[in-house]
Amino acid sequence: MRSKPGVADSSGAGEEFVEYKMVKMGGPMFSLKRTKMKPFSSLSGSIGFLCCLGLVHGLSNGVARLPALAYNTWNAYQCNIDEDLIITTAKLMKSLGLQAAGYEYVNIDDCWAEKNRSSTGELVADTTRFKSGMKNLTDQIHALGFKAGIYSDSGWFTCAGYPGSFDHEAQDAETLFGKWGFDYLKYDNCAIPFDDITRQGIVGKYAQMSTALANFAKTGKTIVFSLCEWGWSQVWLWGATLGHSWRTTGDIGPNWPSLAAIINFNSFITQATNFYGRNDLDMLQLGNGGLTFDEAKSHFTAWALMKSPLIIGTNLSAITPDILGILTNHEILAINQDPVEAASVSPFRWGVNPDWTSNDTHPAQYWSGPSQSGTVFMLLNTLDESSDMFFNLTESPWIRAGRQYSVRDLWTHTDNGTAIRNFTAHAVPTHGVVALLLKDAGNEPNGIFPQCAVWWQCTAEDGTRVGG
Ligand code: GAL
Repeated sequence: MRSKPGVADSSGAGEEFVEYKMVKMGGPMFSLKRTKMKPFSSLSGSIGFLCCLGLVHGLSNGVARLPALAYNTWNAYQCNIDEDLIITTAKLMKSLGLQAAGYEYVNIDDCWAEKNRSSTGELVADTTRFKSGMKNLTDQIHALGFKAGIYSDSGWFTCAGYPGSFDHEAQDAETLFGKWGFDYLKYDNCAIPFDDITRQGIVGKYAQMSTALANFAKTGKTIVFSLCEWGWSQVWLWGATLGHSWRTTGDIGPNWPSLAAIINFNSFITQATNFYGRNDLDMLQLGNGGLTFDEAKSHFTAWALMKSPLIIGTNLSAITPDILGILTNHEILAINQDPVEAASVSPFRWGVNPDWTSNDTHPAQYWSGPSQSGTVFMLLNTLDESSDMFFNLTESPWIRAGRQYSVRDLWTHTDNGTAIRNFTAHAVPTHGVVALLLKDAGNEPNGIFPQCAVWWQCTAEDGTRVGG
């Protein structure tokens, strides 16, 4: 393979009542009375619900078959949000071409609520910052052609101290999705009630809302359920039974060490991702902090090819053409949204480290995965200097030995010749990425030596071992 320098050539509910009095935590004094559920009652309810749908994978319930393409307020604004910002952002999503590129949800994160529920126990939207009301807001978002997302918490309070949905799951589902018209729920894990109150672990706590959403879906509207419990309790083993995506780590920061650590962690659990349920690598930091252009490209590529939800989290009124160009790379987005192949890319060689070694600074460098239109390769240069990156094609399980492959570069948008046996990407920049789509281009030329690209056990028909 020839290459140009600098160019990648490349229980029912129990009847037990428990009285709780005068609890104070991030909010005013109040008293609570709750119905205690038997452990895992809702989980079994969920499984009962799931059993009847003819499951392919996880929920398989009509929404979020593919990763969500969205906007979320948290990374750019934290608690500084209001209705004008949401509508301005939605309009920018349209005018900047993000909606046309496929971004579909406009999601509100923490801090949208009043600190107290109403006298009937309902959530109340902040009467100043969301003064026109949430129904009005979702109507406007819908009128702009988007779907709308909201945030709550599986404990007493959200992480910023607003009311959580614990023990209000069904009521909150009715408020958020029935009365207010939201379509998507991000569900956090702060302010966990005592064990002698929950009598269940994280799974059971999230199952309560999953069941509430399943019950709500009987009204005809299915809600996207995004679990945000930071990877606790090995969520990648069970998240797909309750929701459509699950955060696998703590909060992302707008810096390379954070991105590298998230890529490293997720490199070991790629098999959890499929249609309808997937690892969520956290919301994008493109446009924030001190990421270089190459780091921003690597960030987007890794998230997209690992089939994470892609959730924009920057101030769109100040977005640069560079960042917008990355977010709208249609060839990368097409892999993320592949309707035929759900699998994440996975490492086939770690590179800097021995294979299967965890290293937050130097995650796996050589990755591949199937797609409907060829084999995807991702080469990540985790070094602090530019470097050439070489691989034998058949290191990827999706490559056929004895065939040659055309090479499409998903960042330069160019066809870069035909690869035979191996490929070298030259001078990949520090913390940079190469994303390639290799398509079968027929048999490789006759007489190529060695007879097997993988030399070990390479044997002639008469039994002569020609390899190592
Ligand atoms: C964290 C969560 C963040 C954000 C924040 C809001 O727990 O991981 O993504 O939602 O809470 O308080």
